[in-house]
Amino acid sequence: MTIDTYRPRRSVLYIPASNDKALTKIASLACDAIIIDLEDAVLPADKAAARDKVAGILVGRERRREMVVRINALASEWGADDLLAVAKAEPDGILLPKIGTPRDILEACDLLDDNFAPDSVKLWAMVETPKALLNIGAIAELGRDPASRLACFVAGTNDLVKATGILATPDRRYLMPWLMQLVLAARAGGLDVIDGVANDFRDLDAFARECAEGAAMGFDGKSLIHPAQIELANRAFSPAPQALAEARAIRDAFARPENAGKGVIALDGRMVERLHLAQAEKLLAKAAIIGA
Ligand code: COA
Ligand code: MG
Repeated sequence: MTIDTYRPRRSVLYIPASNDKALTKIASLACDAIIIDLEDAVLPADKAAARDKVAGILVGRERRREMVVRINALASEWGADDLLAVAKAEPDGILLPKIGTPRDILEACDLLDDNFAPDSVKLWAMVETPKALLNIGAIAELGRDPASRLACFVAGTNDLVKATGILATPDRRYLMPWLMQLVLAARAGGLDVIDGVANDFRDLDAFARECAEGAAMGFDGKSLIHPAQIELANRAFSPAPQALAEARAIRDAFARPENAGKGVIALDGRMVERLHLAQAEKLLAKAAIIGA
């Protein structure tokens, strides 16, 4: 992510394409992005009808919010038809589930290119299989090539728990090494990365704690399943007032004439370098975009 291409992805809400009542809520929701789901939230018998609804859901959408569609895996009987139908509706992103290798991304990208999908249609990837985690560095490297369309990773924590047999504890202790590796890989590839869902949407205290943890781990935002989770995610993944005040102080200090030629200065008894200035400017730009 460079700041001139920055899009907030603090709150990313799944809505099953088969849930008409939830779909009618879209315009009233304050989330940064929506993922219309054709995969696990839709029963096999409803897959084709759900796919046919996507174009109607995306038509006339507001540009302020990213609209992404999660298709079925390309290896499944629905995947290729999903990809081609969804591409025609030109969403901001197509989310690929169960990827395992760079080839999975490149295959989807080739299909989009062959069918003249505009460059604005990006690929997002669910990281939810052991194989994807083992290959995560190579997959993330695709992010350095805009032609790959890869823009964002989404942690699929429920599938990771299922596929590996680890115990899902409230503190996510067994997931933690893999989630940190995912953040690291995303940064190496210049990609955004979204934390997994919290299934218990009634326990908002636990949810707030998990959001704070995800933000501290470096995630850009949180995957959500229920509207009640939006506000807490927006808050947790926005720059904190204290961090903004510090960023302003650093920017102002380097702007003073006596500091013009200096690489490192003292500010309130702490060493501040130009790398902190760059970090501060990025944070302030981010806050300005979120505020707008
Ligand atoms: N997006 C938009 N609106 C939603 C929503 C969602 N993901 N989940 C619930 N709502 C709406 C409901 O339609 C309901 O509307 P109403 O007040 O007009 O009746 C309201 O929010 C309150 O919903 P609630 O009764 O608390 O939940 P529910 O029993 O209707 O739905 C789930 C619970 C879990 C089935 C539902 O939240 C859901 O399907 N979430 C997404 C699941 C998903 O996509 N999973 C795949 C990725 S992990
Ligand atoms: Mg999954």
